[in-house]
Amino acid sequence: MILLEKVSKYYPHDKVPALDEVSLHIAPKEFVFLVGKSGAGKSTLIKMLTREEKPDYGKIMVGGIDYDFMKKRQIPHLRRRIGVVFQDFKLLPNRTVYENVAFALEIVGVSNAEIKRTVPKVLELVGLADKAKAFPGDLSGGQRQRVAIARSMARQPKILIADEPTGNLDPENSWGIIKLLEEINNFGTTILVTTHDEKVVNLLKKRVITLQDGKIIRDQKDGGHYDLEGSRIQKRSLGGPAPTITATPTPAPAEPEAPAKKEAKTSGEDVLAKMRQAKAEDEAKPVAKRRKFIH
Ligand SMILES: Nc1ncnc2c1ncn2[C@@H]1O[C@H](COP(=O)(O)OP(=O)(O)OP(=O)(O)O)[C@@H](O)[C@H]1O
Ligand SMILES: [Mg+2]
Repeated sequence: MILLEKVSKYYPHDKVPALDEVSLHIAPKEFVFLVGKSGAGKSTLIKMLTREEKPDYGKIMVGGIDYDFMKKRQIPHLRRRIGVVFQDFKLLPNRTVYENVAFALEIVGVSNAEIKRTVPKVLELVGLADKAKAFPGDLSGGQRQRVAIARSMARQPKILIADEPTGNLDPENSWGIIKLLEEINNFGTTILVTTHDEKVVNLLKKRVITLQDGKIIRDQKDGGHYDLEGSRIQKRSLGGPAPTITATPTPAPAEPEAPAKKEAKTSGEDVLAKMRQAKAEDEAKPVAKRRKFIH
């Protein structure tokens, strides 16, 4: 569960707040798109959740942790509950794919035996089992983002936050990454994604939260659209006619979308099956062996 109550953030020297009394509730297992123009406050909101930045006002609770009462030593614990994926992947260039994922576990004190068991499983689930020995520089952008997702998922977070995960990808790879996030969500992980990708948002029809100048101007709980200005939704809510292509120039999905979708469907089912299997295997183990962290 993610809860923000009247959260405001003023960066030094900025006259207007980056976040202005933002209140928000995201339930476990939701899939949420966070959209808004450049500078609207999306990354700032995410930094509030990861504790990279602190709010000036307001209350934040994530997964039962009240940030007002969080001790410094609890921050690593929080970072295990929340996986984060960025636009620029943030991979270690001199380490292999396997080592990149393993490193995320090493730094939180997971045993070598556990790492050896976990890394192949998460690489499998993101479809990169055959790239374990490759270096990030030898991978495509989409593959690099898959490594970043594998790295985040290795710690089995309850929440996965992705700040423009498709920002550096072409449409086909973007679609593959979003479908992977959707499958991870089907498995029970809460997903919060920021994006400028109108097509992806409109195709997925998930919850869409729109930020403008640090404020939430719209929160469409289901079947949300990408609409930064709000004109279409306002018309609808006022009982106006349903939008037409001419009135609301939302582009139709591009040609390559159909095959990409088809491919994502099969590989998505595959990934889901693998995750279920990995989870079942994991749960069969005693808890002490499943996760062993140094605190
Ligand atoms: N470290 C910082 N110091 C000062 N101002 C900042 C800082 N980070 C962000 N801002 C300002 O806060 C506002 C919100 O920025 P933020 O990065 O959250 O926007 P965004 O919605 O993520 O934009 P984009 O789509 O371009 O990534 C902007 O006006 C920005 O200039
Ligand atoms: Mg941003």
